[in-house]
Amino acid sequence: MDHKISLHDKSFRLYIPNAEIERAIDAVAEKLNRDYASSTDDNPAILICTLNGAVMFASELMKRLNFPLEFKACKLASYHGTHSTGVVTTELALPDGLEGRRVIVVEDIVDTGNTIVEIHSQLLAKGIKDARICTLLLKKDVYNKDIPLDYVALEIPNRFIVGFGLDYDQLGRNTKDIYVLDE
Ligand code: IMP
Ligand code: MG
Repeated sequence: MDHKISLHDKSFRLYIPNAEIERAIDAVAEKLNRDYASSTDDNPAILICTLNGAVMFASELMKRLNFPLEFKACKLASYHGTHSTGVVTTELALPDGLEGRRVIVVEDIVDTGNTIVEIHSQLLAKGIKDARICTLLLKKDVYNKDIPLDYVALEIPNRFIVGFGLDYDQLGRNTKDIYVLDE
């Protein structure tokens, strides 16, 4: 594993090795398997992967889930470069047919929570039964919204990170470890 990588104009150093990420995903998957054990083929849970950042987490997570589920995706954007813009735009809308369904939103990282608030309100408008949030990472000193984060694999301080699906201006998603901005 490389201890430093550079992307565009910035350099990043190793922060969370893959083995630690995998252990954290194991733990979250175990909880989900317990909580969704009553999910049935007639009424499967709906896993919604938020593109693009959560794609690697969602696939690792899904390998570990043993209850009936359907896989969907949506794409919202709030970040530009290394900062949240505060404005959330929808690039791929949430799927239809969510009335009465139990939804698990799979996020890469919750920062300000603006994205989660937007997804949550769109889901409620679609008449879901309930929605839970499952995120690989949480910047817990930054998150200041009321929506409960039901499944959090890893908590981190307010640092900018890349890897394991997360990007800096679209680069850096394809590493199995997570790196932090070297300042
Ligand atoms: P929020 O809306 O402020 O919670 O930001 C959530 C989204 O911003 C995440 O889904 C990521 O796409 C992106 N994001 C937040 N923090 C980081 C980071 O440290 N690195 C890369 N992307 C991030
Ligand atoms: Mg994202």
